[in-house]
Amino acid sequence: MKTAIVLGTSRQDGNTKNLVSLYQKHVTADVFNLSDLLISPYDYEHHNKNDAFLPLVKALLSYDHIIFASPVYWYSMSTQMKMFFDRLSDILTIEKSLGRKLRGKSCSVLATGIDKSPPECFEQPFELSAKYLGMLYKKMLYCSCDEQFIIEEHNIKLLNYIGTNET
Ligand SMILES: Cc1cc2nc3c(=O)[nH]c(=O)nc-3n(C[C@H](O)[C@H](O)[C@H](O)COP(=O)(O)O)c2cc1C
Repeated sequence: MKTAIVLGTSRQDGNTKNLVSLYQKHVTADVFNLSDLLISPYDYEHHNKNDAFLPLVKALLSYDHIIFASPVYWYSMSTQMKMFFDRLSDILTIEKSLGRKLRGKSCSVLATGIDKSPPECFEQPFELSAKYLGMLYKKMLYCSCDEQFIIEEHNIKLLNYIGTNET
């Protein structure tokens, strides 16, 4: 299974990036860091259609499984990730053929936050968007982190997540 990770965080060497790097120690996966790409907010008039969003989607279409990696910021996905999700509207309107190609792919979520468990409302947008796009939503791994990401605290949970997501 070819896996891509879409990473959206405001801290380039923070907890979510560390979780993604740990995942890559166990599973081969390519990372697309939204902070490296110029993707502008959704525009009803699509003046931004030549930015980095459509090339990113085209690249993602060559993968079977897409992981969305985001910290919890104010009970929600990061701004970078939300902008990416808003732009998915482009592939339901001006580039419908791309949108159709997402159908049947699977996706899941890697998340970090400071609270012991994520708020219920955090996972729903991923799950519901996947359903809307015809993607198979697998599951989320949430790692509660303090200031630092301590590998030993998360590795067993990560291996379980990989085991269940691979099936
Ligand atoms: C703007 C902001 C909002 C946050 N809101 C939450 C929150 O609602 N719930 C939570 O558990 N942690 C919250 N946190 C803590 C982060 O989710 C946590 O530190 C996370 O691991 C940071 O990941 P990062 O290093 O990739 O940014 C917030 C942090 C920031 C900077």
